[in-house]
Amino acid sequence: MKNKSRSVLLTLLVIALVVALLAWGVSFLLNRSGDPTAKLEQPITPPLVEKGAYLARVGDCVACHTAPGGKPFAGGLGIGSPIGTIYSTNITPDAKRGIGNWSYGDFERAMRRGINHNGDALYPAMPYPSYAKISNEDLQALYAYFMKGVAPVEQPNKANDIPWPLSIRWPLAYWRTLFSPLPDDQAKPLVAVEGATAQEQRGAYLVQGLGHCGSCHTPRALTLQETGLDESAKGYLTGAELNGWAVPSLRGMPHWTQQQIVDYLGTGRNSTASVAGEMKDVVANSTSHMSDADLTAMAVYLKSLEGKERQLTQAKPDRDQATTAKLTAAKDLTLGERLYVDNCNACHFVNGEGAPHVFPRLNGASVVNADHPGALINVILAGAQTPSTERAPSVLPMPGFAERLSDSEVAELATFLRGGWSNEAGAVTADQVKSVRQTLHRH
Ligand code: HEC
Ligand code: HEC
Ligand code: HEC
Repeated sequence: MKNKSRSVLLTLLVIALVVALLAWGVSFLLNRSGDPTAKLEQPITPPLVEKGAYLARVGDCVACHTAPGGKPFAGGLGIGSPIGTIYSTNITPDAKRGIGNWSYGDFERAMRRGINHNGDALYPAMPYPSYAKISNEDLQALYAYFMKGVAPVEQPNKANDIPWPLSIRWPLAYWRTLFSPLPDDQAKPLVAVEGATAQEQRGAYLVQGLGHCGSCHTPRALTLQETGLDESAKGYLTGAELNGWAVPSLRGMPHWTQQQIVDYLGTGRNSTASVAGEMKDVVANSTSHMSDADLTAMAVYLKSLEGKERQLTQAKPDRDQATTAKLTAAKDLTLGERLYVDNCNACHFVNGEGAPHVFPRLNGASVVNADHPGALINVILAGAQTPSTERAPSVLPMPGFAERLSDSEVAELATFLRGGWSNEAGAVTADQVKSVRQTLHRH
């Protein structure tokens, strides 16, 4: 008996050793090294730190690396994933708890290669597949900012909430090898489109790289990688779904002018739309801080994208008039139409056009016509608020109707909106409203 248990123990030990060796060997093979001893090639000067601060805005580092009510960049925000909650880390220059002891090479490896300080693979919750496109010049400025421009915070990192064995990190190295291309030869400019102008290239660089717009606007495969990291991929920026919220396509954007895109990104509103959902934070933390030149470059790039354009509702003047006339006459209204006249008309008007830069249009709006009605239901129940930005400080609120309208009333109203004027999208059921309402209670 004794002998037997000893041999079992021995076998287990041998197996453990072999597995560990294999894991080590494989991770060694898959480790796309970079140079952890690399030093910053230039002195850290105030202009370099300032440039890095701007780029940190473009990359929206603060959004993920700051917990609600927490100190900037001190980490601790829980990010849901299919295997559990991943907590963002402290990236302040605190030597003990943050990245204060990191060399430039350590920083480069984390940002562009997804390799942590200790050699572990990072979860792609950190958008390193996009950040792989950051130029050396910009990465150096970012490093300078995180070393000298950010206040150190001595806050320990939270352990991830992922059960063993899913918490083992080395399999992530396979994911990384398959789905995150190595940083380009950074001396080469990133070519956006064949024959792209310098402005389009700048836009492509910002959208694909630091801006990581594809992390929400590109659909993901079953293995969770984005189905493309640049416009050569069919799926790139064709729109997706985020926690039940429709994320519109950015390809070509035929329904908006270049200026409308610039206004939306710079102020959270334009002559037809207002921002809501997670894009609101992107505008508040990131794009509203970008220069006019950079916003224009991004808009020019998005407009240049051909391929699968969003299935847009075409303007249909006859139907616009029919809906408007019926709402104006207020006779024989359906329940959905009556609820609109009673609750929404004061701001969005009978023609569904709203008022430029104040109340968004509902006729033709992305959020109304999205395949998935989750975002529309969410706005009706919870209301929304246009963010205050430097360029447009006023906050424009829309009240929520969760208390006033039942699930079936919201369903009738949303169904009217999705079929009124030129809109052409499917009906909404009370069950769909119910499930969105439940997520509101949870928050
Ligand atoms: C979409 C969310 C998100 C954004 C945006 C983001 N990060 Fe991260 N980052 C994370 C998460 C989550 C981790 C931890 C990953 C892990 O534990 O494997 C991380 C890890 C890191 C690490 C490794 C640090 C450590 O202590 O392990 C660095 C460095 C880093 N991020 C820097 C940045 C910088 C700089 C930016 C902005 C340019 C940025 N991140 C933007 C989510 C994000
Ligand atoms: C965290 C996820 C996320 C990121 C990152 C993100 N977006 Fe968005 N974006 C959204 C969501 C959600 C919407 C829908 C907003 C709504 O329903 O009001 C949206 C809407 C938009 C719209 C409006 C499109 C329309 O037809 O109404 C534009 C333009 C846009 N985003 C551009 C960008 C750009 C450019 C970037 C990168 C700099 C970016 N987004 C990054 C989530 C994101
Ligand atoms: C007091 C004025 C007001 C009333 C009443 C009102 N809204 Fe709004 N609505 C707004 C404002 C302001 C916004 C922009 C908020 C934002 O930035 O998301 C908005 C946004 C929206 C959006 C999102 C548009 C987009 O492009 O993202 C939808 C959909 C919407 N309202 C539908 C309705 C419906 C349906 C009703 C009636 C149940 C209604 N609203 C009542 C003022 C109002």
